[in-house]
Amino acid sequence: MVLRELELRHFRNLGIQELHFPPEGVAVVGDNAQGKTNLLEAVYYLESFRSFRGAADRELAAFSEDVFYLRGSVEGSARTTVAAGFDCRRKNKKVTVDGDDSLRISAALGRLGAVVFSPADVRLINDGPSVRRRFLDIVLSLNRPGYVDALLEYRKSLAQRNAALRTGGGTAGRQDWIRAWDSGLVDSGASVTCLRQAWATEWAGAFADHYGAISDGESATMSYRPNLGEAGDAEGSSPRSSDEAAVRERFRARLDESWENDLRRGATSAGPHRDELLFTVGAGGRTVPLRGFGSGGQRRTAALALRLTEAATIRRQRGAEPILLLDDAFAELDSGRSGRVMSLLEEEVTGQVIMTVPKESDVRLPGRPLERWRIHGGVIEA
Ligand SMILES: Nc1ncnc2c1ncn2[C@@H]1O[C@H](COP(=O)(O)OP(=O)(O)OP(=O)(O)O)[C@@H](O)[C@H]1O
Ligand SMILES: [Mg+2]
Repeated sequence: MVLRELELRHFRNLGIQELHFPPEGVAVVGDNAQGKTNLLEAVYYLESFRSFRGAADRELAAFSEDVFYLRGSVEGSARTTVAAGFDCRRKNKKVTVDGDDSLRISAALGRLGAVVFSPADVRLINDGPSVRRRFLDIVLSLNRPGYVDALLEYRKSLAQRNAALRTGGGTAGRQDWIRAWDSGLVDSGASVTCLRQAWATEWAGAFADHYGAISDGESATMSYRPNLGEAGDAEGSSPRSSDEAAVRERFRARLDESWENDLRRGATSAGPHRDELLFTVGAGGRTVPLRGFGSGGQRRTAALALRLTEAATIRRQRGAEPILLLDDAFAELDSGRSGRVMSLLEEEVTGQVIMTVPKESDVRLPGRPLERWRIHGGVIEA
């Protein structure tokens, strides 16, 4: 996929601009706080309709404005134009694809095929399990048909069941009423679990390969740990756990087991909202979780390997090279690792690259002669 045009209107500090990107990409050079990350955030907004930094939509409109608008044209097998606008006062988000405004946001996702690499990615490994569930949710929403609908359905059922639990068990009749939410929860939750499991099983090998290549031979693993447990196999993924009927059965059994506890807590304790995506690394003959035991460099390496795995997912799913958005991404790696990441990117990811760097000398993709743009105070000079 190739981003050709980007129109910006009042997104963060970027004002009103129209940019025309070269097919091989561009390196945007500028000092701190000039708008480099804002530019990549704008591009990725057209992929996911949310900020990759986790900012709320209302924070994305320029300080002096209460609406923003973005429009991008991408070329893959055909040319597609995606536009998005947000009105902070009405809290109204509008999305169009090729001018069609009748699409639900969930149906408009993933039209660019972009992946962001950022120094903040290390939080994917360092932080609690919810950031890794969010990672899975984004990758699968953008790349697996049906996932986003199952996820939204699950969240709705979970919220309804929890609200019912909070009103208390009281009588047997009330308890029956609360448990009436279970079947919606079980059906959508089993779909979410199985799609997450299938992705992790499919890509565990690629993750390990990327990690090995960047670290020059260290080994690391990625495995999915569903809160519902593995079907008859405590040792990581099993083919049986992708059997949705078996997962539904297990989920029902877990809800039965935890019923008294859920009633007491006023919240549902079992389900994919408690899943973990586990990363481990070999250390002194043992296997230890990267979170907690990995060095800073190892955790950054794992985050990069995960993003490369995401890029490979996009390539396989959409049959096109992803657009790479590199936000000063290799700043904190030692020179061996950053050199190997660069070669890996050059070999493996051959599509458009939009990268931001503070200094000209930080553009370290020797095989890619990228045009240089400057950014100052949000204004981009091509
Ligand atoms: N909603 C907004 N409206 C106007 N300006 C904003 C808004 N949000 C952020 N900014 C401004 O954008 C600038 C930061 O932009 P950005 O994060 O893109 O910087 P950067 O060039 O990536 O810097 P660094 O090199 O430090 O990462 C800050 O000056 C900030 O005040
Ligand atoms: Mg930045």
